[in-house]
Amino acid sequence: MATVAGSRLLDHVLSSHQFDRPLLDAVFARARALAAVRDGRLAGRIMATLFYEPSTRTRLSFESAMLRLGGAVIGTEAAREFSSAIKGETLEDTIRMVSAYADIIVLRHDEAGAAARAAAVADVPIVNAGDGPGEHPTQALLDLYTIDSELGHVEGLHVALCGDLRYGRTARSLALLLSLFPNVRLTFVAPDVVQMRPDILALMAARGVPYTVTDSLGDTVHDVDVLYQTRVQKERFEDASEFERARGDTRIDVSVMQRLPEHAIVMHPLPRVDEIDPAVDSDPRAAYFRQARNGVAIRMALLEMLLA
Ligand code: CP
Repeated sequence: MATVAGSRLLDHVLSSHQFDRPLLDAVFARARALAAVRDGRLAGRIMATLFYEPSTRTRLSFESAMLRLGGAVIGTEAAREFSSAIKGETLEDTIRMVSAYADIIVLRHDEAGAAARAAAVADVPIVNAGDGPGEHPTQALLDLYTIDSELGHVEGLHVALCGDLRYGRTARSLALLLSLFPNVRLTFVAPDVVQMRPDILALMAARGVPYTVTDSLGDTVHDVDVLYQTRVQKERFEDASEFERARGDTRIDVSVMQRLPEHAIVMHPLPRVDEIDPAVDSDPRAAYFRQARNGVAIRMALLEMLLA
């Protein structure tokens, strides 16, 4: 269980709500210190990855992080089909079992709240690697770390969160972390059908974070420090016509980049479909592949803090 002076305990990673400024500083300091480390400090420890939804970055960067620290990895990448979930086993029973086989469980699930349910019955730390439309706190940590690394600070920035803000768990988790920094301004850019949900907007208001809600990227782009794009989460729509309306007009292409300030950065949690034109990739302000690489160091820091 990790502790930081003046901070709450970190025994699981379930939500961005768990993090305060001292704990963020501690995670980022460990990520910077561990980025180039390849040693055996977690030798003998086992991480289980239980993924009920597909993943490239989160699962493989956690596995890479564990291997770089000398630990071992077990897991299933399609747990809905290839674990005993298909026989009807509950998530709780699966977690009780995997707790006996591993020292930490990294869980991705399609239901909001699944990670908290797992933590309630687990004997080992649970890391929420994305719970449906709920949260993706380790992504938010690497996103915030990227902003700080690229721009040198977070205070006072204007961040536009774009795309599918209703189902996009990364934007929800990142908004929560950004709200801890003074003078941050947020703009939520999305068609009505996928705008940010009222719980996050209410929290921004309660924390005194100035925010704007709009469906127009054009009105915003000239004034932002961070343009954070997200994919429309097609797999979460039951109504195809609603999905078409959700696609909106927030695509980032070369003409958008011409209006973006020179110092600004474009981020995306990835995977990308068509919401950022590949022609943007060669622009030095396109930070999304550097952002994804930061995932390994952040996850090394979390594994060390939870296990060492
Ligand atoms: N950003 C992210 O969660 O990517 P994956 O779905 O590939 O893990």
